[in-house]
Amino acid sequence: MMSRILVGYHSRSGNTQKMAETVAAGARSVGIEVDLKPIADLSAADLLQYDGLIFGSPTYYGTMAAPVKELFDESIRFHGKLEGKVGGAFASSANVGGGNETTILDILKAMLIHGMVIRGDHRGDHYGPVAIGAPDARSKKLCVALGKRVAALVKQLYPEG
Ligand SMILES: Cc1cc2nc3c(=O)[nH]c(=O)nc-3n(C[C@H](O)[C@H](O)[C@H](O)COP(=O)(O)O)c2cc1C
Repeated sequence: MMSRILVGYHSRSGNTQKMAETVAAGARSVGIEVDLKPIADLSAADLLQYDGLIFGSPTYYGTMAAPVKELFDESIRFHGKLEGKVGGAFASSANVGGGNETTILDILKAMLIHGMVIRGDHRGDHYGPVAIGAPDARSKKLCVALGKRVAALVKQLYPEG
């Protein structure tokens, strides 16, 4: 089976969705199969089917939105089964300093607890792309880079899928 990545996102007013679409385009540009889905359409069992999981959330009170957290909490049913999958995260917020990095780190922490593999970015947004409101050109470039980075690592770790 071909290697596959899931880009899952929560978005009420479209900002995080635009980031998700850009991350997915980045991963697809290096020839990997990508499913792009709202978190509401996902169950924890779906996560098992992918080699890479990238989640995006708006910043709600400095952390991920409740539906994203709910999916992680539901994923305890499969604790240990996500080990070795490649992870990544991105976040939108209203304000600079409004908590987008803490949101990303909270998502990455949950992924690390699952035993997932995370690659940082030594040049761009280090933990994952952030946007203030709708993603601008800078943010979109980093979203593309995240998609490519996760896809490259998935291909390295899971060449046969
Ligand atoms: C319940 C709630 C809590 C929020 N908390 C924060 C916050 O702590 N910091 C911040 O900068 N923006 C906060 N925002 C603003 C959103 O993160 C921001 O508008 C984001 O771009 C929305 O993304 P979306 O268009 O994908 O829904 C909050 C919005 C809502 C609805």
